[in-house]
Amino acid sequence: MPDIRITLLTENTAKGRGILGEHGLAYWIETPDGPVLFDTGQGQTLFANAERCGLDLSRTTAVVLSHGHYDHVGGLEALLKVAPAARVHLHPDALRPKYSGTANGRTQPVNLPYLTEGQLQREAAGCVYNRAPSRVNATLHLTGEVPRTHAYEDTGGAFYLDPEGRKPDPIYDDQSLYFQTPQGPVLILGCAHAGVVNTMRHVAKLCGTNHLHAVIGGMHLLHAADFRLEKTYEVFREMGVQLIAPCHCTGLRAVAGFWSAFPGHCVEVHAGKTFTFMVP
Ligand SMILES: [Fe+2]
Ligand SMILES: [Fe+2]
Repeated sequence: MPDIRITLLTENTAKGRGILGEHGLAYWIETPDGPVLFDTGQGQTLFANAERCGLDLSRTTAVVLSHGHYDHVGGLEALLKVAPAARVHLHPDALRPKYSGTANGRTQPVNLPYLTEGQLQREAAGCVYNRAPSRVNATLHLTGEVPRTHAYEDTGGAFYLDPEGRKPDPIYDDQSLYFQTPQGPVLILGCAHAGVVNTMRHVAKLCGTNHLHAVIGGMHLLHAADFRLEKTYEVFREMGVQLIAPCHCTGLRAVAGFWSAFPGHCVEVHAGKTFTFMVP
C-alpha cells in the first residue's frame, strides 16, 4: 500500500537541529503523484527548513493555498521561482485585500500586496480556482468553501475586507485538504477560519462517513469561549478522531484542553515534524 508522508516545513514552533520556527504554516505532502505544498508560511523558514529536512522544493507539483493570509501565502512568490512546474490551487477570494483589527482600534493589512491575479498567472505553471470541492491529484482533495452550519463558530477574529474595518471578511477562501486512509479520512487544516467543526462535518459528509481518523493543523480557537471549546471537543469525541494535532493558531488554552480531554490521542506539532499515513 502506498503512503503519504507529511513534513511540517513551517510552524510557530520548531524542534530539531537547525530547524526554524515562524508564525505560519507550510506542509510538504509527498503523495503517490508527487509532492504538494500546502501553504508556504510567511516565507522566512520554508527554504531553510526544506534544506535541513533534505527536501527539494523544486519538485513541487502543486501549491495549495488554505486562504489568503500572509502567514500562509508569504512564501509563494519565492517558491514559484524555484518550482516552475507547480500549479497553484486557490479560492478566488484568497487574492482579495484583507485586514485585521489591531489593539488600538485600527486595522492592518494581512494579505500580501504583490499577490495580484496577473502576477500569479504569470509566475505559476497554472492557476486552478475553486469554490466547490475539488481534487489536487488522485489522492488529495480540497474542501472548497466550507458551509457555516454551527452558530457557535466564527472566523476567529476581527477580519475585514476594507482598511476602514467596516466590511467583515467572512474568509470564504478558507479551505482544507483531506485524503482517505484505511482508518478513515485525514483532515489537514490551514487556519480553519470557517470553523473547525464546520470543516470536520463538511469533510465527513463529502466522504460519506461520520468519522475522521486524524485532524491536523490550525483551528483558530485563540479567542474561543469555553462553550465553543466544549462543543468542539464533543464533536472530536463523537467523530472518534484518533489522532489530534492542533497547532499554529489553535491557541495554548484550546491545545491544553485537547491534551487533557483526549489523553493518548494528541500529538505535538512543530516545524520538522513528520506524519505518515497509508493510502488505499
Ligand atoms: Fe488566517
Ligand atoms: Fe494562520
